[in-house]
Amino acid sequence: MVRRVEQATLPRAPAARTRSQLPPGPKGPALLQGLRYARDPHGFLGRFQRRYGDIFTVPFPIIGKVVWIAEPTLVKEVFTGTPEQFHAGEANATVLEPVLGPNSVLTLDEAPHMRQRKLLLPPFHGERIRRYGELMRTIARREMESWPVGETFALRPHTQRITLAVILEAVFGVHDEERLQRAERLIGTFGKRVNAIALPVLRRNLGPWSPWARFLRAREAFDEFIYEEIEIRRREAEVEERDDVLSLLLRARHDDGTPMGDGELRDELVTVLGAGHETTATAIAWAMERLLRTPRVLAKLRESLAAGEDDYLDATIKETLRIRPVIIDAARKLNEPLRIGGYDLPAGTCVFPAAAALHYREDLFPDPHEFRPERFLDGKPNGYAWLPFGGGVRRCIGAAFAEYEMRVVLREFLERAELSAPDPKPERARIRNITVAPAREARVRLDRPLR
Ligand code: HEM
Repeated sequence: MVRRVEQATLPRAPAARTRSQLPPGPKGPALLQGLRYARDPHGFLGRFQRRYGDIFTVPFPIIGKVVWIAEPTLVKEVFTGTPEQFHAGEANATVLEPVLGPNSVLTLDEAPHMRQRKLLLPPFHGERIRRYGELMRTIARREMESWPVGETFALRPHTQRITLAVILEAVFGVHDEERLQRAERLIGTFGKRVNAIALPVLRRNLGPWSPWARFLRAREAFDEFIYEEIEIRRREAEVEERDDVLSLLLRARHDDGTPMGDGELRDELVTVLGAGHETTATAIAWAMERLLRTPRVLAKLRESLAAGEDDYLDATIKETLRIRPVIIDAARKLNEPLRIGGYDLPAGTCVFPAAAALHYREDLFPDPHEFRPERFLDGKPNGYAWLPFGGGVRRCIGAAFAEYEMRVVLREFLERAELSAPDPKPERARIRNITVAPAREARVRLDRPLR
């Protein structure tokens, strides 16, 4: 049995020293580092941490030089720093602004960020989201009915359909079958067009069939759907009683008493969809990938579920997010110079707390490559060592929602389905859009019909 102590015993910060240059790191060009990251997204940062220590610099494609931080007391300095010092919005905006829009909580900083975040937080509060439990269960069950019996199939597309339907119904408040199907089609096309403009050089109109022009058309079509939905919800007589997130946001007021405008609502809905759908689907897929290859944990989890307990399930979810973080770091850009870890970093430096290095530190998580939920059974994880959801004033707004959804869906999978992994080899990690996912999409077999 692993004790809580393993997370509490944190190493000390590096001894003070002053240098104006950036922390050490590999010399190879950005492209080479990008290729290394693509080949092994989870191992990438840990290797540098073991070689260069708690703070290191790596040139990275598109972003430029990044100073990654892999030590809890330094992470604490970043997460407890002021919003004026650390800009996450600016760091995120490089890639996301054209998709999410100018009002997105993800791409704003300082007071405008807090203004949006304040209104978005209450609908995703721990207590509030429990009312979506039945909806999540029904959606998971419906999707499970499509699993073939006795054949190998990829689980992740199914978990993606589940988490997409959950967001469309719980957040957007769409329940009409025809509109749900239309939304799924529009989002599918929009997602593809977003991927095609990942490189900034492609963000130029080079004719009606260029990636950028096609992206703009897909965005416009999806926006039209969202504005219709906002309009429908505004007109609905029972908007005061509805508990989908859009209806709650329509009733919310900024500190100055003004309601959210349509542009703000649109941007936050797209943000929640972008930030919350694929991430949660990938995390569920990883949980099954790990469970089906760790019979001891699977058996213990089944036993605890049969006994009506939630603690081991909760610990399994935390351990999945540790050993297979779907996002490997939290982006911050210095808005002013900073002294950290003995280095003087100039304004404009990217300083990213590195989940995928911290999570594999032997001193924080003994036997880090062992899938062992027991390490999370006692108390809350250390928020500066375990950071699948980032931290500080930018911590993921949907963390409680995601963990709750994972709980509901995994319970449903494990109680009703007898799944196995046809290939016992662990799946490698691959970058899929914004997440790090199982390379083979978590291949499974349903050994007998659902219970
Ligand atoms: C397992 C699933 C998820 C993971 C791993 C995840 C991870 C993250 C991470 C790493 C960040 C950046 C935090 C930082 O910069 O410190 C973030 C931000 C955010 N997430 Fe999540 N997320 C998940 C699910 C969700 C869900 C379900 C929603 C909404 C329903 C959501 C909404 C957001 C929003 C709005 C932000 C921006 C917060 C801000 O900048 O103030 N996420 N998430």
